[in-house]
Amino acid sequence: APVGVSEGPLAGRRVVVSAGGTREALDPVRYLGNRSSGRMGVALAAAARDRGAEVVLLACAMDVGPPAGVQVVPTPDATALELAVAEELFERQADVLVMAAAVADFRPARVEESKIKKQGEDEGLVLELERTPDILAGAVERRDAERAAGGPDPVIVGFAAETGDDGASVLEHARAKLARKGVDLLVANEVGVDTTFGKDSATVHLLGADGSERTVGPAPKTELAEAVWDAVQALPTPART
Ligand code: CTP
Ligand code: CA
Repeated sequence: APVGVSEGPLAGRRVVVSAGGTREALDPVRYLGNRSSGRMGVALAAAARDRGAEVVLLACAMDVGPPAGVQVVPTPDATALELAVAEELFERQADVLVMAAAVADFRPARVEESKIKKQGEDEGLVLELERTPDILAGAVERRDAERAAGGPDPVIVGFAAETGDDGASVLEHARAKLARKGVDLLVANEVGVDTTFGKDSATVHLLGADGSERTVGPAPKTELAEAVWDAVQALPTPART
């Protein structure tokens, strides 16, 4: 192949992967965050690169470094991530968005300009939180509107960390979330006793909008990432050139 032209099943495709956990500022030195390590998103970005895709990694806070050979856009909080999704998925017309980032559902209603100081002797602190935008839902909504107008029609993949007393209830939550989110593929992470954030292996259920379901794992995240791209490639492809 000519220099600079990749080969592989995703050659010529531009994919956007969000990874890690958002940090929502409280004051100049503090934030509300979560335990997402970024490992799954990084594995997805590396796997897509190896399949020939041009990869943009929207990097929230991560315990691991980004893989080589991908474009990294720092997205520290939900606001930055929402802007970057608009830019990289819609303005630059990517073919696939994979939202592996753990986005805060709530953020401080106000960001204090100076460090919050202790008051009184034993006084606690009550924080007021507001909802963050649902970035994935917003992307699906915009994609569907553009599709209806004959515009680009990227594939959108959502993630879900679900708990349940047994596998069946995790799947039930995941099926409901798939329907609610309108994504093409939902990757449901089983969050349970043996599977916690930061671990290198996990079990996932891959639920397609076409009704397809596949369970993968427990397996290393590199292997799960391959299964996710296999599922994306197996999706019925709309008229996309
Ligand atoms: N997500 C998002 N914006 C948010 C919250 C979540 O884009 N403000 C995305 C995540 O990146 C993930 C998907 O939505 O791909 C599902 O996240 P999850 O937390 O499982 O779902 P929620 O709709 O937030 O529901 P829950 O109340 O179960 O947390
Ligand atoms: Ca959530």
